[in-house]
Amino acid sequence: MDDLSTIRSEALDAVGKAADLAALDAVRVAALGKKGSVTGLMKTLGGMAPDQRREFGAQVNQLKGEIEAALDARKTTLGSAALAAKLVSEKIDVSLPTRPDFGQAGHGTLHPIGQVMDEVAAIFGEMGFTWAEGPDIEDDWHNFSALNIPPDHPARQMQDTFYLPSRADGTPMVLRTHTSPVQARTMLNKDVQKMLAYGGALRIIVPGRTFRIDNDATHTPMFHQVEGLVIDRTTHMGHLKGCLVDFCRAFFEVDDLPLRFRPSYFPFTEPSAEVDIGCSWKGGELKIGAGDSWLEILGSGMVHPNVIANCGLDPAVYQGFAFGMGVDRIAMLKYGIPDLRNFFDSDLRWLRHYGFSTLESVR
Ligand code: PHE
Repeated sequence: MDDLSTIRSEALDAVGKAADLAALDAVRVAALGKKGSVTGLMKTLGGMAPDQRREFGAQVNQLKGEIEAALDARKTTLGSAALAAKLVSEKIDVSLPTRPDFGQAGHGTLHPIGQVMDEVAAIFGEMGFTWAEGPDIEDDWHNFSALNIPPDHPARQMQDTFYLPSRADGTPMVLRTHTSPVQARTMLNKDVQKMLAYGGALRIIVPGRTFRIDNDATHTPMFHQVEGLVIDRTTHMGHLKGCLVDFCRAFFEVDDLPLRFRPSYFPFTEPSAEVDIGCSWKGGELKIGAGDSWLEILGSGMVHPNVIANCGLDPAVYQGFAFGMGVDRIAMLKYGIPDLRNFFDSDLRWLRHYGFSTLESVR
């Protein structure tokens, strides 16, 4: 009996005095390890009479439980103290200027995707477009139904959707498969509707993340698009064409860049066109510009009257065009980046090679 209370007070005392996690572990081993004091008590049970063994066994078990609980509690305390100490010792002042002797290696670079989004925004900005955004986690209605893609529409299978658990109110949720839901969100905006009613024109671009179940050298499950939307009373297919020709020539910096508008299908535009830019392959190297090949870079069309109506506007009054292009894709084409997956590896050597200096930023 004396043994029990001595071991208890000694062990609990040692737990309380353990100054760090290593010391605490030593206490655990001394009490509960193979040769520990409590384990030693357990071993004496074998030589006892059944009654005595039952009573003493229960007491030893209780002691073991008490010591374990004390160890756990102390471990939590020491763990947070250790973390707090680590945070203090590793604190860095991120506002300090970089050391000049670090040279190029010490500077961060702009990721090509951010750079390209800024370039796209600068070009459309000059044409009177503003930057709009929407959520990555989208409800099924904005991602599909509002865009004239009803639940049983085969286009839902065209886009390999990541479905998410429904919201508490039963709303089905997805990771947005394109930036087009922001078309709907913007047209539904009451201020936008007022502005249109006063005769204004809506012109937005929507750079952002998009998600589809896909993974190879040219597809990643997360990628980026820029959506474009123009709504007013008079905008027609000729405007769509002129706008995209101007954009592509400015973006790829080729004044006579040929563009090909191919009839296509999207549920949310009618008519629809996919746009290819001219290019040539010489010795396995791609050159953007007049040549004998074409590269598809975007989808576009006149906004479907059903979409305009779904978004609370009168399709007899309002019309316009929309387009969507892959940011990663046009970045790869413009800057000769061969593998899409490297965009998201965070490999510093890649970032230094393909990243942009802040001095080249168009912002
Ligand atoms: N949302 C389409 C896609 O992701 C692209 C698109 C946008 C096409 C707008 C037409 C108009 O494939």
